[in-house]
Amino acid sequence: MPVSAVAVDRSVCAPLAVLGRDVLVPLVTGGEVDYAALDYAASAPALQRVWDDVAGYAPYYGSVHRGAGYLSQLSTDLFENARTTIADFLGCRPDDQVVFTRSTTDSLNLLAAVLPPRTRVFVFETEHHASLLPWEQCPGVEVTYLNAPRTPQQAVDALEAALAAREPYGPALVCVTGASNVTGELWPVEELAAAAHAHGARVVLDAAQLAPHHPVDIAELDVDWIAFSGHKLYAPFGSGVLAGRADWLQAAEPYLAGGGASRKVARRTDGGVDVEWHTSAARHEAGSPNVIGAYAIASACQALTEAGFDTLVAREQALIARVKEGLAEVPDVKVLSLFGDDAPRVGVLSFVVDGWNSSHFAAALSAEYGIGVRDGLFCAHPLVRTLLGGEPDEPGECGAPDAAPGERSLNAIRVSFGAGTPDEHIDRFVRAVKELVADGARWNYRTEEGRCVPDASR
Ligand code: ALA
Repeated sequence: MPVSAVAVDRSVCAPLAVLGRDVLVPLVTGGEVDYAALDYAASAPALQRVWDDVAGYAPYYGSVHRGAGYLSQLSTDLFENARTTIADFLGCRPDDQVVFTRSTTDSLNLLAAVLPPRTRVFVFETEHHASLLPWEQCPGVEVTYLNAPRTPQQAVDALEAALAAREPYGPALVCVTGASNVTGELWPVEELAAAAHAHGARVVLDAAQLAPHHPVDIAELDVDWIAFSGHKLYAPFGSGVLAGRADWLQAAEPYLAGGGASRKVARRTDGGVDVEWHTSAARHEAGSPNVIGAYAIASACQALTEAGFDTLVAREQALIARVKEGLAEVPDVKVLSLFGDDAPRVGVLSFVVDGWNSSHFAAALSAEYGIGVRDGLFCAHPLVRTLLGGEPDEPGECGAPDAAPGERSLNAIRVSFGAGTPDEHIDRFVRAVKELVADGARWNYRTEEGRCVPDASR
């Protein structure tokens, strides 16, 4: 059966409807409200379309690359077609490989593992930990950390200067983020890539926060690799992608050793084992592939493409403007930014509220308004510390403000949204911020295992 015959009735939902819109959550103050998922930057809800496609395929599920049966062949086709769909979505060049991983973190660790010996890596301290930390784990790799720039041009100039200062070097890699997971700000990817290439360095784009919000084209941006996660792209089935240049991937030892990555294995006369590894993407995909995860990402890519990024971006920018205008009316709220308040960004904003512990504020948004945001340092500790103006102390107890009015906050609150966010969730969020700042929380909260939670009594 051709894959297209996996039938799904799409007439029942809009292309970008997401799961969870009808989930009611209890309010500590009484009653229930539909959950406002405003933590897309951590994990976006599944698209209904993705869920339907996966459910349509589930009865046909079979092993990939390792079965003679009909459903194994169908599943293998589905898996390989997903690779092609994602390559198209990313504008891959003919020689690029699309490797399925578990997440952006896994993709960047894979790339770190295949770097040629003595590669020099350049990375801004503002990266989230997935793109900040993998490089130093690799023996022989030398990492240059660049300080937080305060304008996009400063970022390009700092990279230029760092590359020039360390020449000559052998293989080099620049790791750049497309959109910050803290501020949502867009980074000057094309300019950074041009600077890197002018000095003979390659570029990997961390598109974890960019790809769900913007078209990303590997050839147009002229980057060498792109990494992103399914769970931020409305496809939460445990898969991610590393796409790009095949040569370093083919030259390195497999990321994982095992079946699927090996073409031929034989005992040697000296008693050892000889292995001939694949040179295709399979080289780094040992073990049974996550066909559902791959199919889910391909389905999400198709849904976003069909909805049209022009339409999606325009709507998201309108939501961003609504959040910014609403927060600007609350003098106690400070939105965090590296490049300035008006810098272009995706639907990700972090802020602090004068005199409030961010964990307390986030807990009240959840318990009293049914709104899910994230608080803390967002797996980007150096960046958030820079934005907050220094090293944080230990987080304070949540029951009382831990920073007096006018004092530096210790961590931040992040609101993030996207293609499945209804206007009402944004309006509820803005209203909740205003009410909490004006009237305070209506409930008591306490710290339990490091989290702020509603107390049993008011
Ligand atoms: N990078 C993920 C986030 O920002 C973990 O929440």
